[in-house]
Amino acid sequence: MTSKVLVSGAQPSGELHLGNYLGALRNWTEMQANYDSLFFIVDQHAITIRQNPAELRRRTLTCAAQYIACGLDPQKCSIFIQSHVIGHAELAWVLGCMTPLGQLQRMTQFKDKQQKSENVDAGLLFYPVLMAADILLYNTELVPVGEDQKQHLELARDLAIRFNSTYSETFNVPEPYILKSGGRIMSLQTPTAKMSKSDSNALGTLYLFEEPESLQKKFRSAVTDSETEIRSAVNKPGISNLLAILSAATGKSIEALEKDYAGSSYSVFKNSVAEAVIEMLRPLRKRYTELMDDKTYLQTILQQGAENAQKRAYKMLSKVYRKTGFLERM
Ligand code: TYM
Repeated sequence: MTSKVLVSGAQPSGELHLGNYLGALRNWTEMQANYDSLFFIVDQHAITIRQNPAELRRRTLTCAAQYIACGLDPQKCSIFIQSHVIGHAELAWVLGCMTPLGQLQRMTQFKDKQQKSENVDAGLLFYPVLMAADILLYNTELVPVGEDQKQHLELARDLAIRFNSTYSETFNVPEPYILKSGGRIMSLQTPTAKMSKSDSNALGTLYLFEEPESLQKKFRSAVTDSETEIRSAVNKPGISNLLAILSAATGKSIEALEKDYAGSSYSVFKNSVAEAVIEMLRPLRKRYTELMDDKTYLQTILQQGAENAQKRAYKMLSKVYRKTGFLERM
């Protein structure tokens, strides 16, 4: 393991889906042992959209179980809940005071969510600053995320550079780590939009822990096109997405898969993708059920993770407060 710090996280605003797994979580599990790794569940981010409190609590715990079921090993990394570590929101405030409003207003995700929502709270605009704090608080070098987070990471980099040049060297400037295959999994129903927890069409999103029959049904109804050829092309977003999913699930290249399925019908192809995904997820499902039966274990892991993170967060925050000019706490 190197001493390089790696951090990442997901929102407990819904169950984890295939995009979260292929774009992020699977990479986390592959990288966790090679870095000083911290993974959080970002409940403070989740409330930028109104949540049902009981549901949020439930999902936060299931999210921890899902992280471990996906392969995160608490012996190799720290897993914790964002709101359990005092420092994320505090650093976000300091960074927010160095963030031009226009830069936040230009964020693609903010603009998208603003269009979809009638009531936009200031938290939604401030969201990327909190994300920058999540990253910079731990002197992070590497952040494995899906492609949709690229712009947010650029802000984190900008803020690190701005703080360092204003107050002297303090933060590492973090690097994004985005996979080519799996970095952007699209909705099965609207394959021009990314797969997301908030898709209005329930058939578009494949949840990691849903029943295999339900996954199969979603694959069967996946939107394709009026041609018959199985190949990846800009004008064939549905088939291209299914090929990307199959490639990520099997490790085969898109070109090899195009050859394998030359002449096959769309329904045979969809069935193969469904089977590959169900097989990939089978061991994860089993582990998830076991973990959900042992909530004490989950709580212990989260407590240990938060204690470790808290010590580190405190150190960084003290440094930032000193440099900013805050009088030291007695
Ligand atoms: P979230 O919860 O939306 O997603 C978690 C991770 O999954 C990736 N992802 C996808 N990858 C490929 N295809 C998709 N359709 C897809 N949908 C989601 C996301 O890119 C992400 O890596 N703001 C973040 C959470 C966060 C964070 C952080 C991440 C907060 N603070 C600090 C890294 C570091 C988010 O909402 O992710």
